[in-house]
Amino acid sequence: MPLSRRTTLTQFLIEERRRFPEASGDFNALILDVAMACKAIARSVAFGALGDVLGAQGSTNVQGEAQQKLDVIANHMFVRANEWGGHLAAMASEEMDEPCAIPAEYPRGKYLLVFDPLDGSSNIDVNVSVGSIFSVLRAPADAVASGRELTTADFLQPGTQQVAAGYALYGPTTMLVLTVGTGVHGFTLDPNLGEFKLTHPSIRIPDDTQEFAINASNARFWEPPVKRYVDECLAGRTGPRGKDFNMRWIASMVAEAHRILMRGGVFLYPRDTKDASKPGRLRLLYEANPIGMVMEQAGGRASTGREPVLAVQPDGLHQRIGLVFGSKHEVERIERYHREPAMVKDDNPLFASRSLFRDAA
Ligand code: AHG
Ligand code: MN
Ligand code: MN
Repeated sequence: MPLSRRTTLTQFLIEERRRFPEASGDFNALILDVAMACKAIARSVAFGALGDVLGAQGSTNVQGEAQQKLDVIANHMFVRANEWGGHLAAMASEEMDEPCAIPAEYPRGKYLLVFDPLDGSSNIDVNVSVGSIFSVLRAPADAVASGRELTTADFLQPGTQQVAAGYALYGPTTMLVLTVGTGVHGFTLDPNLGEFKLTHPSIRIPDDTQEFAINASNARFWEPPVKRYVDECLAGRTGPRGKDFNMRWIASMVAEAHRILMRGGVFLYPRDTKDASKPGRLRLLYEANPIGMVMEQAGGRASTGREPVLAVQPDGLHQRIGLVFGSKHEVERIERYHREPAMVKDDNPLFASRSLFRDAA
């Protein structure tokens, strides 16, 4: 078979780097190590029941969630693929309570890597798409200069500080979707060569959509602005929106993010009243921030409902947050609903199709 002319991930990174002649190459090497971890995880996922990778591990992570075998395997693969290269000062993961230091036998670098090694764990055993999410930050300059031990505080940087972010999706095809701050680019794993190839350059999310994603079993815990938004979508053509909506819920955020990148849509896992100790379901540093950067780089928007998610100053490594992302106009509408005064009762007639709040559009 002739070698395809498609750009490989390696070539893409080298060509990007040519625009910064002073760059050391560390960053490119780091992304290639992340890609290697994702390829290894993709292989494990693909073996399924043949590979002794399904089922529960019998342990819980720092968030009290039961770990699946693949959560632990994928975490191990991320750590192994990234600890040796000399590009990282430390790592942090959903599956590790504390930041993970670089072993003493390896050189240390200037970046921090934060990851959710396996997103959508509940879908592993039912053969539905799962993925990995990653975020690259700079280590504080004083830590790089002095070689001091990295602490949790060093990771608590707002999403605007991310140098790169992305995800791998282990679906019918394995894809790597990456932003280094110059748009969002999608690569498909060529199973013959084991190389990621650029198949989706400069992905843009449509500003408008008629598709939303939310776990409706939480409806009774939603705050009024979310309830209003969903009610209006459900009301469809004869409601205030004047158009019908479609709904999806995969329960792998990474797969929902990918669908939204491909055809638009909006995803909500908002803050709710289900458990006062958890302000949202998803984690800020390794779920909301990297997906938020990808969304914004693709012309979409990511928000807590109240403010851009990338602007949030983190206060914990495993901090949870309400998250809304996707098509820009829809996210802006949800933010507007959060700003408007709380509307009284759930069944308030003002929400009806002839309400005071009926939209012009
Ligand atoms: P993880 O598997 O890394 O713990 O994350 C799962 C997340 C996210 O992918 C998904 O959107 C959400 O949890 C699903 O939550 P529900 O089970 O409430 O639907
Ligand atoms: Mn996750
Ligand atoms: Mn996970």
